[in-house]
Amino acid sequence: MPGVVIVGAQWGDEGKGKITDLLADRAGMIVRFQGGNNAGHTIVREGREYKFHLIPSGILYSQKTCVIGNGVVLDPRVLLGEIDGLKRAGIDVGNLRISANAHLIMPYHVLLDTAGETKLGKLSIGTTRRGIGPCYADKALRLGIRVQDLLDEKILRTKIRAALEPKQQALRELSVQRRKLRKEAGEDVAKAESEAELGDIPDPRLDVHGMVEEHVSYGHRLEPHIADTARLCWDELDSGGTVIFEGAQATLLDLDHGTYPFVTSSNPIAGAACVGAGVGPADIDEVWGIAKAYATRVGAGPFPTELEDEIGERMVEQGHEFGTTTGRRRRCGWMDLVALRYAVRLNRMDALAITKLDVLRGLGPLRAAVRYRSKEGAVLDSFPYHQSILHSATPEYEELPGFDEDISDCREEADLPAAARDFLAFIADFVGVPVRLVGVGPDRDQTIWLGS
Ligand code: IMP
Repeated sequence: MPGVVIVGAQWGDEGKGKITDLLADRAGMIVRFQGGNNAGHTIVREGREYKFHLIPSGILYSQKTCVIGNGVVLDPRVLLGEIDGLKRAGIDVGNLRISANAHLIMPYHVLLDTAGETKLGKLSIGTTRRGIGPCYADKALRLGIRVQDLLDEKILRTKIRAALEPKQQALRELSVQRRKLRKEAGEDVAKAESEAELGDIPDPRLDVHGMVEEHVSYGHRLEPHIADTARLCWDELDSGGTVIFEGAQATLLDLDHGTYPFVTSSNPIAGAACVGAGVGPADIDEVWGIAKAYATRVGAGPFPTELEDEIGERMVEQGHEFGTTTGRRRRCGWMDLVALRYAVRLNRMDALAITKLDVLRGLGPLRAAVRYRSKEGAVLDSFPYHQSILHSATPEYEELPGFDEDISDCREEADLPAAARDFLAFIADFVGVPVRLVGVGPDRDQTIWLGS
């Protein structure tokens, strides 16, 4: 009864959607277990591009059950938009199942995310402003609204009232502070106030009556999809089927093990699949880590191999490194094997998929960080747990020959130039896990299976 977890091995955007889509061929069920619409994945099939934020990548297969697990935070408006988009494209969403226990991102979560980031100013995390952190905070505070609450208007109203009250206070305070800052900066505060700004109270988006009505109607539309999704996973696994647990974001954005506080508010690592889907550790048979052939990061936070030079710029251009969710330009740098080895162990990976190898074409010699050096000159062979050390660590590289050939039509390992093969072998050897899949372009066919 194979359970396969797919996790991001870097800072996200590694191309997990494409790999999930490929591996889903062998699965009966695909389950998202954490995160929300901060994620974004693009799948290109037969030249057609599909973008998802919440719906599991397996949705393009009509015979497979796609599950949004209890660990996900779900913005119903966004989900319904995705469902409508898929229907318009002629894709059947009848097999989509949503955990009744998943938490809802409410309008006030989105407002609080934006207000919180604005308040942090230079210290901001660079969140996607989709309400992820405030929603998970409410879940932990036991003030969350869950998918099942959409089906009972009375409960929904009571819960929204209870959740909203403390937020109104917080939003009011933030709005007063912002007004003060604007006044100090000489802005015309009266004009700004008349513009129904984010966080200013009263805000029509925070009207309880309107919010309840809107969410009851979402409930009606989502009801056919709402289910006890943990049980669906057990049934699939117990009957010998394969379940893919699809992680969003990535290891270094993990709330506990990532570069805190510059992380997301959930646990994208493999261990979280059990909690976020409702299965046991023994249900997990295989863990796949997905890494780009270089590294990228969106938002703030440490990134030891970041390149702020022409090569970094070329990675952005050749790799089209702009976020699916926010359109932000991604920071780019060389492959960081210190961080990757950390991710391999943390997730106890069995296999790696290396994506976007084609992007390294023509960049000259290829580099991969093999250790860091601390500010004091100490050699750091492993990923430092101390934030200040990581912030000031400088990478030391192994340099390998590069390649100039266009590899986007390669379909076998032997088709790849020797330099590309050597680069992959170096990665696998360094982190101690085989590279089983290589991406050489966005289309699902632009993939090479290794060693099989
Ligand atoms: P949040 O998840 O919106 O709270 O954002 C927290 C951090 O995680 C920010 O640095 C985001 O840029 C980053 N982040 C969240 N989701 C993704 C993703 O899917 N890919 C890459 N970065 C992400």
